[in-house]
Amino acid sequence: MDALRVEGLTKYFGGVKVLEDISFEVPAGERLAIIGPNGAGKTTLLNLLNGQLEPTGGSIFFFEQDITRLPTHRRAHIGQARSFQIPSLFTKLTVLENTMLVMHGLERSRLDMVRTAGGYARVADRARSALEDFGLWDKRDEPVGRLAYGDQRRLEINLCMATGPKLLLLDEPTNGLTREEGVAIIDMINGRVGAEVTVLLVAHDMHLIFSVADRVMVLYDGSILACDVCERIRCDDRVREIYMGV
Ligand SMILES: Nc1ncnc2c1ncn2[C@@H]1O[C@H](COP(=O)(O)OP(=O)(O)OP(=O)(O)O)[C@@H](O)[C@H]1O
Ligand SMILES: [Mg+2]
Repeated sequence: MDALRVEGLTKYFGGVKVLEDISFEVPAGERLAIIGPNGAGKTTLLNLLNGQLEPTGGSIFFFEQDITRLPTHRRAHIGQARSFQIPSLFTKLTVLENTMLVMHGLERSRLDMVRTAGGYARVADRARSALEDFGLWDKRDEPVGRLAYGDQRRLEINLCMATGPKLLLLDEPTNGLTREEGVAIIDMINGRVGAEVTVLLVAHDMHLIFSVADRVMVLYDGSILACDVCERIRCDDRVREIYMGV
């Protein structure tokens, strides 16, 4: 079954066309990388898939459900998780507070839980065990803004995964990291994201792409230039010319 099916997706900002008639499918469990030059429309595409933006035209199906107009929080409840090009954590709150907010969001009866000691204890327990899992329990009282950038990224992606998503949308997860920090992120994606989770990964980092992706989609000027397995994309002359500047 397809985790995602996109049909004729189009996005204008005012009179400016940013994505034109994009159609593709992503089978469940696939890891698809999206590459393309700056301004190609990669982040805009993720924003449409995750509901931060409404398309001008076209449709998005998530496991056959039409989600084209579904708000972002509803998409989270049916199994989408998203990390941003710039980490989106609350930088003034501590590591533990950020984690508790995510765990709280996962509770079924969120309004009840803030009023009961039992509910609070359950969220605190889940946050503790998640942070122990991520190897960040020792840093629980640090404000997130004071963590090393690599730790912020790691926390953000780990928190996405803690929601148990069916689809993980990652926008340049190694952006701004050192090579070692980047490798740690790649290991985390390969080691912790189960094979059943579908991953869409926007990236410029070729090492990341070829270490993680099954297929690569190349966006160029708002259209799909190519979409194929890594080896064929690597050898595609148009891609080499337009994207890699070869
Ligand atoms: N909210 C907006 N309003 C107007 N134009 C926008 C908006 N968001 C993006 N754009 C424009 O849409 C185009 C695509 O932007 P987008 O951020 O999707 O590119 P990208 O492929 O993610 O680029 P990068 O690699 O630099 O992150 C750009 O020309 C950008 O200026
Ligand atoms: Mg972008």
